[in-house]
Amino acid sequence: MSTDLTAVIAPIEQARGLPNAHYIDEATFDEESKAVLHASWAGLAVAADVPENGDAKPLEFLGLPLLLIRDKDGGVRVFQNTCRHRGMILVSEPRKIEGAIRCPYHSWCYSTKGKLVTTPHVGGPGMNTHEAIDKDTLGLIEIPSHIWRDVVFVNISGDAAPFEEIHADLIARWAEFDQPMYHGGDDSKFELGVNTNYKLAVENYCESYHLPWVHPGLNSYSRLEDHYNINEPGKYSGQGTLVYRQFEGAGGKRFPDFTGLSDKWDDGAEYITVYPNVLLGAQRDHAFAIVLEPQSVDRTVEHIHLYYAVPNVDDAMRLKNTAQWKEVFEEDIFVVEGMQRGRYGPGFDGGRFSPAMDGPTHCFHAWVAQRILDYRQSHSVAAQ
Ligand code: FES
Ligand SMILES: [Fe+2]
Repeated sequence: MSTDLTAVIAPIEQARGLPNAHYIDEATFDEESKAVLHASWAGLAVAADVPENGDAKPLEFLGLPLLLIRDKDGGVRVFQNTCRHRGMILVSEPRKIEGAIRCPYHSWCYSTKGKLVTTPHVGGPGMNTHEAIDKDTLGLIEIPSHIWRDVVFVNISGDAAPFEEIHADLIARWAEFDQPMYHGGDDSKFELGVNTNYKLAVENYCESYHLPWVHPGLNSYSRLEDHYNINEPGKYSGQGTLVYRQFEGAGGKRFPDFTGLSDKWDDGAEYITVYPNVLLGAQRDHAFAIVLEPQSVDRTVEHIHLYYAVPNVDDAMRLKNTAQWKEVFEEDIFVVEGMQRGRYGPGFDGGRFSPAMDGPTHCFHAWVAQRILDYRQSHSVAAQ
C-alpha cells in the first residue's frame, strides 16, 4: 500500500501526521522498515549486553538473525548469526565463546572476529581442507555497527553515510558528555513490552505536552513551562527541562556528577531521540538509553539501561532510581497503546499538530516521511 506523504512533510501548521497504514498495515510497515530501519543507523542493543571479551548474544532485528559479540580484543561486532556452510544458526543462547564460534551442525569454526578458521572433514574424512572451500571468502557476514553512548547502532543496508557524519550535530551538542559512563548492572536495566508501533513510543518521548496529565508526579516539580522543544529538522528532536531535580538517597545523598560539565547542566537535562529508534537522556549525574525493538507493526519492546558517572554507585540509591524511572516509563504505556488502538479508526487522517507543542513530533514524522520518499524514488528509478 503506497501512502501519500506530501502532507507529512508540509510545514507544521498545515501538516498531517503519518497515515494510519504506517501503524497498522504489514506491507506499509515492511516498506517503511526497509526505508527507515534498515537504511539508517538503528539501535540494536547496548555494548553492556556483552561486557566481557568472548561474550556473545543472539538477537533478532525485524526477523533478521544477528549475533552481538565482543571479540577477543574487546571490539564489539555484529554478525549475521548464520553459518556460511548450510545456513545453520550459530549461537542460540547468550554465552561466552571460548576459543571459536563453533557451528553445532558440522562444526565449522569462526574466530570472534568472524574469520572462518576450521572446516573439519570438508575434503572427506580426515581432510580438513578442500580447494573449493576458500576460507578467506567464507567469513561471517558482518553488519556495519557503531557505538555511541554505549548504544550499538547497526546499518543493515550497509550503505548509510558514517554515523559520526549523520549525527555530527547531536554528537557536538552533547560533547560535554563524551566521557566514560558506567552501566549500573543487572538492577539498572529492564524491559517493557508494549502493544504499539515503535514510532508511537518515539513520538511520545519527544514531547513534554503530556506531562501534566500522564506524569503528575514529574510535573509537580518540573512543569510544562519549564520545558523546551528541541527541533533539528532532518536530524533529531526531543525536549529539555530547565528544572532537573537530582535523585536523592538517604540524607540527601546524590550520585556523583559527570566531570567538567558547564552550568547549563546544573539544573538542565535533555531527552532526545536518535532517529529512528533510540531514546536518550542526558543529565548531570546519570544517563539512560532506551533501545526500541520493533518486533512487528504493532508490538515493541523497550530496552531501558541506566548509566552513571562512576562505577559502583550506592546500591540502594541505584535500585531506587531504577524503580523511579520504571514508574515514569510505565505511566506512558497506556498512551502509546491507546494511540495504537486509535490508529484503527479509518477516519483518522494522521492528526493535527499543535504548532507550539508538537514540533519535535512533526520533526520525526517529516524525517520518516522523507526517508520513505527517498526510498520510493530510488527504487522506482532502479526499476526503470
Ligand atoms: S551448517 Fe554450519 S557447519 Fe554445516
Ligand atoms: Fe512520558
